[in-house]
Amino acid sequence: MFTGKLLVRSVLVALTTSSVGHAQSSPATAPDPTPAAAAPKVTQTAQQNPTYPAAAGSAAYPFMPAIWPDPEQPRGPINLPELLSSALVQDGMKRVRAVVPASLLNVEVKSTQAVLGSGAVNYVGDTSAAGMCYGQAQCHRLTAANGYQPDVQMCPGANVWGLTFDDGPTDAADNTNSSQLATADLVAALAAANNIKATFFVVGSQSYWHPEILKALYDAGHEIAVHTWTHAALTTLSNEQIVAEVLYTEAIIVRTLGVRPRFFRPAFGDIDDRGRAILGALGYTNIIWADTKDSGDSHGQTLQQVVDNVKAWFVPQPGFIGLNHNINPATTEMSIEIVKLIQAGQTVGTFPLTVQAVGQCLGVSPYTPITGASATTSSTRMSFSPIVPTTTSAFVDITATVPATISTQRPPASTNRVSVGSAGQPAAVAGLVGVAGVLAVAAGLAL
Ligand SMILES: *[C@@H]1O[C@H](CO)[C@@H](O)[C@H](O)[C@H]1NC(C)=O
Ligand SMILES: [Zn+2]
Repeated sequence: MFTGKLLVRSVLVALTTSSVGHAQSSPATAPDPTPAAAAPKVTQTAQQNPTYPAAAGSAAYPFMPAIWPDPEQPRGPINLPELLSSALVQDGMKRVRAVVPASLLNVEVKSTQAVLGSGAVNYVGDTSAAGMCYGQAQCHRLTAANGYQPDVQMCPGANVWGLTFDDGPTDAADNTNSSQLATADLVAALAAANNIKATFFVVGSQSYWHPEILKALYDAGHEIAVHTWTHAALTTLSNEQIVAEVLYTEAIIVRTLGVRPRFFRPAFGDIDDRGRAILGALGYTNIIWADTKDSGDSHGQTLQQVVDNVKAWFVPQPGFIGLNHNINPATTEMSIEIVKLIQAGQTVGTFPLTVQAVGQCLGVSPYTPITGASATTSSTRMSFSPIVPTTTSAFVDITATVPATISTQRPPASTNRVSVGSAGQPAAVAGLVGVAGVLAVAAGLAL
């Protein structure tokens, strides 16, 4: 129902304007939200092909689905048997099993208090054990090993900022007020700022809703990358569910654009060695962000706080990849303010960084050939050398210092389009706006 969307938005607005002084470092020490397991799960439904025309290049994609996962994110990780047993997912599993050691595929699936919105991933057990290096706990893999490739946090050149925006595409028509901003406004701001390009880690469900906006993003020269279909925490999913999150998102991008992405970013930055290895087997490079380069725009900070955070990056330094968002009007406004600051600095010649999309800064194509899913094995999954860190400060592997149990709050995804007339939907939305959801937004880690 429409009111559900309004409620979610009003919670976000209230938090964005009332959390002055909220420190970026607080998520790790924030109290657990009330478990939201009581929120009733809503039955998922498979979707038909969008009416948007399929791109010419998509004809070569061998397992293009005829049905798609539910695009309502609050309905949780993909769980319909017909979607998990599809040729697309089963071929993906074949590729995964061919190269990923069973020891990694059997790494324990983490528990989560709830689906998207108010849940927390519980990293039980020894987080420093083999296979347990959690991205969300800022443990990163710096070298290839045991079936996975290194995480990429940096642009190799000095003074290069790899600009990224997560969670779109968003549509102004979904906004509650015509002055609010969406993806098209961000694209216009980037064009005005000397045509700088960015990498957009798009959500499959949002891309299903808005193929025309995804196409406009791509046509404007921005790089399109995968950020899961439902925005579920990867470490809480089965191997097949991880494959489904990646490949249905890949497929909707291929269908819409005729290109197959190479870059992946886990929702919430939540990944372990199992996820890394599965991603690598599917042909993806795990692109995260430098530990000190989270803009804070997904932590409930104000526009001014986020702008101040990012202004501190405007100094000569080793290359890095940053984290910004395009999830809702508030984060899109923050991102546009930042782009305007870049433009202002460039205009007076004082801006010390080169802003680039991730593929640009790494010197590789952000896309891989559509040669048929079965052909994309280890030989095509990463044809460039792992990025060597230029400083050690942003690459500290803190596995050994991570507490045995870490609870991390997960903010609600505010851009979920709420379907009119869906009987179960109000309950799911209500689950997002409870106390737990508020805490999650106030204290949440990066989306
Ligand atoms: C509409 O959104 C803009 C931008 O967020 C805000 O400044 C304005 O107050 C809003 N207007 C209404 C009537 O809600
Ligand atoms: Zn995200």
